[in-house]
Amino acid sequence: MLSKIITASAALTSLVSALPTEKRQNIDTTVLQFALTLEHLENVFYKQAIQKFSQQDFMKAGYSADYYNDLKYIAYDEQQHVLALSAALTAAGVTPNQACQYSFPYTDVPSFITLSSVLEDVGTSAYLGGAGLITSKAYLTVAGSILATEARHTAFQRTAIGEVPMPNPFQTPLDPTSVYTLAAMFITSCPTTNTPLPFTPFPALATDTKTCTCEEPQCGMPSAYIKARDRKNDNWGKEHGWGSTWDPNSSKSCMPPTAGTQVMFTANGTIKANSYVTFVNGLNVVSVAGKIDGMNISAAVPSQAMGQTYVFVTSKNENGTLTAADVEYGPAVLEVAPPAPAIDFSES
Ligand SMILES: *[C@@H]1O[C@H](CO)[C@@H](O)[C@H](O)[C@H]1NC(C)=O
Ligand SMILES: *[C@@H]1O[C@H](CO)[C@@H](O)[C@H](O)[C@H]1NC(C)=O
Ligand SMILES: *[C@@H]1O[C@H](CO)[C@@H](O)[C@H](O)[C@H]1NC(C)=O
Ligand SMILES: *[C@@H]1O[C@H](CO)[C@@H](O)[C@H](O)[C@H]1NC(C)=O
Repeated sequence: MLSKIITASAALTSLVSALPTEKRQNIDTTVLQFALTLEHLENVFYKQAIQKFSQQDFMKAGYSADYYNDLKYIAYDEQQHVLALSAALTAAGVTPNQACQYSFPYTDVPSFITLSSVLEDVGTSAYLGGAGLITSKAYLTVAGSILATEARHTAFQRTAIGEVPMPNPFQTPLDPTSVYTLAAMFITSCPTTNTPLPFTPFPALATDTKTCTCEEPQCGMPSAYIKARDRKNDNWGKEHGWGSTWDPNSSKSCMPPTAGTQVMFTANGTIKANSYVTFVNGLNVVSVAGKIDGMNISAAVPSQAMGQTYVFVTSKNENGTLTAADVEYGPAVLEVAPPAPAIDFSES
């Protein structure tokens, strides 16, 4: 599997370096402009949330003053990323695109944090997927530098909502069209002076809304770690009607799917017979024959999926490599609870 991906990216690299220098710079500045599009989105996302919710709002929802302060560091990071990418584009003689108008579907503190955890993981995967396309080593270092920061944001927000912060030994690389498909859902309009990106979103696919997203025992409550840092005599559970101890049978508790769980997805159109559900996660691409019912398709989550997983409806079995031409709908975002870590102490 790993060798397949390495071969694929080596083939891509040799393809790119065969291009004249001018074309190569074009690819690099397109990747930078694309990264800037995501950073603008994140920058506005955090600024709006910090303006909308006060520290008091976060504390009422069970989050500490430290949590709120750390959130401001994330907002600052995104602002710096916008400035750095804009400066890099200007230096390369390209006009950096401006921020667009966005609509983010969160309604309260927990739904904001959940959306943040999803967006940060998508951002991290976007830089990883973009890395294979960048030809300049200097730009690659900048992209790697931002990638590591986005990964920290992801782990922080996953922890905050009771998800395993590092559910997979391998981050998922995601291609620009898939990333753009996910980002475009939040963009309502852009300045007409912006240079359009050369990507067309795939038709949409949504995960069944009844599918749960948090995976630790305190699921549905802010992570014990976040609370423990400065909350004593915690009454949060009682105040929110959960009693003093967490009841795993409560209607508010749920566990996300694990390997083997049947999950349903709804497409923006009728699904063709013999389509597959293709799960992209870590360095794995696994197709499962789907059970189709009109616009709905379901399949059992494969054992390779752990953590934030990207799900496509494809016309073919994509095992190993996802081919854009085979994508009918997607990606949908699916959180998969990782199995307990099996540590082999004989390995040294
Ligand atoms: C959903 O399908 C309609 C009709 O085909 C199309 O106009 C629209 O752009 C699609 N939306 C998404 C998000 O794919
Ligand atoms: C949850 O439900 C299961 C099955 O009905 C039961 O065995 C268990 O005791 C319940 N746990 C609690 C904490 O109520
Ligand atoms: C793809 O590979 C997995 C094993 O990694 C296998 O279980 C599955 O059946 C394969 N899919 C198809 C459509 O052959
Ligand atoms: C598809 O799923 C949606 C959402 O759960 C449901 O409302 C609809 O009835 C389903 N359609 C079919 C054909 O099962």
